[in-house]
Formats: sequence, structure tokens, C-alpha cells
Amino acid sequence: MNDALGMPQTAVVVGATSDIARSIVRELAGRRLSKVVLTGRDEARLDAVDEEVAALGIATHTKVLDVTDVAAHSAFVKRAADALGQVDLVVMAVGALEPDGPEPPGPVETAELFATNCTGPAALLTAFAKLLCDQGQGRLLVLSSVAAVRVRRVNYPYGASKAGLDAFAQGLSMGLEGTGASVVIVRPGWVATRLTEGRAPAPFATTPDAVARDVAAALERGTSVVWSPPVLRFVFGALQFLPRALWRRLPS
Ligand SMILES: NC(=O)c1ccc[n+]([C@@H]2O[C@H](COP(=O)([O-])OP(=O)(O)OC[C@H]3O[C@@H](n4cnc5c(N)ncnc54)[C@H](OP(=O)(O)O)[C@@H]3O)[C@@H](O)[C@H]2O)c1
Repeated sequence: MNDALGMPQTAVVVGATSDIARSIVRELAGRRLSKVVLTGRDEARLDAVDEEVAALGIATHTKVLDVTDVAAHSAFVKRAADALGQVDLVVMAVGALEPDGPEPPGPVETAELFATNCTGPAALLTAFAKLLCDQGQGRLLVLSSVAAVRVRRVNYPYGASKAGLDAFAQGLSMGLEGTGASVVIVRPGWVATRLTEGRAPAPFATTPDAVARDVAAALERGTSVVWSPPVLRFVFGALQFLPRALWRRLPS
């Protein structure tokens, strides 16, 4: 159960090898997090994160799951619930970017990107939402992106797939009203992680630890949308009104 301050004691981390997810776990470990299920598609990378998290004094369970394997989702949710008892928090941190370069991805790569960033996570969130409703409590923390707010020419497949996930999370949030379960949407800007390695930082670039601090503060306050850094809420509020002719010329 969440503690008196609303901080989670148990969590399922989907995409546990993500740099942002690892920072969130470290940040929440310093608060009340004591038991986690760590999930990833690569067993060796997952084992390394398991060691790191266990060293924080957190009880861990690891489960291999590719988020695009929708047929495996229901059984996975049941196993995660069995391992934790109550699930206070689900962190959905899976994500992939298209290759850096002038050419947009082809049809197969585009479909894979949507499966990883949008349809896979949406299906798994649906399965977890049912569990949290049955529990009468728990939060779904969804790593969206500012790229979802207004799609850019340079990475429109990523932006569009994140926009789909973000819209889905907003709808799910409304659908869960009155159940005790809820959704927290996180919209980071450019974060220095394995995902963005070798790419030029965007204005207001930040770090996984700073995103994790913003997330923990939002969980404490009960905020439903987190911009990280917070100034991006105002920046993107204004950028939505930039004429298309200017928007499409923005540098990468
Ligand atoms: N970095 C940024 O600038 C930024 C900005 C806004 C939003 N975000 C979002 O924040 C989240 C975390 O990203 P990050 O920056 O921490 O990047 P990251 O370190 O590259 O993490 C991405 C995670 O997604 C996992 N993943 C990819 N495809 C998967 C699949 N099919 N099934 C299961 N797991 C899969 C990766 O697992 P493997 O270890 O197996 O590769 C990894 O754990 C993502 O949703 C990303 O879109 C990032």
C-alpha cells in the first residue's frame, strides 16, 4: 500500500533497464519503495539492474517480457501481482527512437516503433488498469514525451507513436476516475540516456536523476501530468501556436 504521504511501497517497472526508470527506482528507494518487479526483454541487462536495485535494500523479482508480446501480458500481470501482493505503482518506461539520419524509417521499422512505443504499452497498461481497479488503488506512471505534444519533422514516427500513447493515457486516466486507480503522465524533454546517446541535446536538456526527482515530487503531490523540467509546460504551451511554416523548419 502507499504510505501516509502517498508514496509507493511496491512497483512493477516495465523497461527496468531504462536509464530514467533506474533513476526513478533509486529516487523512490530513498522514500518508501521496498519491493519491485523488474521487467525487460534482455535477461543479462535485467540481471545487472537487479543487482543494482537489490544493493539499495529493495526486494526484487525479475521477469523477462518483450512489451510487444501482447499474448504474454495477462499472465505477466498475474505473476507480478503474485510476487508483490498489492501493486502500488506501475512504471511504463519502454521506448525506442528511430535511427538518427535523414531518411525516415521504412514500413516494417515504423510498425515496430509503434508496437514498442504505443500499442504494446497501451495493451499492458490496460491489463494493469484492471488489476489496480480490482485492488481499488494504485498508479500507472506513463513515460510519454514532449515529442508527443507537437510532432516534429525530424522524428515524427517517434513523436506520433508517443502522441498515441499520451492520448491513450489521458483517456485511461478519465476512465479510471472513481476506481481508486489513477494515471500519471510524464512528459520529459531531451534527457541524456542510452536512448539519446550520440544525438545533439535539445534546449532545456536534462538528466535521468532530475526527471526522477520531478516524478517523486509529483507522486507526493498527487499531480497527474509531470513536465520535466517543469518549464517545458509553458514552452510547449506556447510552441503549439507556432505557425506550421516555422515549426517545420526547426533544427533537429
Ligand atoms: N531520453 C529522452 O530524451 C526521453 C525523452 C522523453 C521521453 N523519454 C521516454 O522515457 C522512457 C525511458 O527512456 P530512456 O531515455 O530511459 O531510454 P533507454 O535507457 O534507452 O530505455 C528504453 C527502455 O525501453 C526498453 N525497450 C525497448 N524496446 C522494448 C521492448 N520491445 N520490450 C521491452 N522493453 C523494451 C529498453 O530495453 P533494453 O535494455 O532491452 O534495450 C529500455 O529498458 C521511454 O519511454 C522514452 O521514450 C525519453
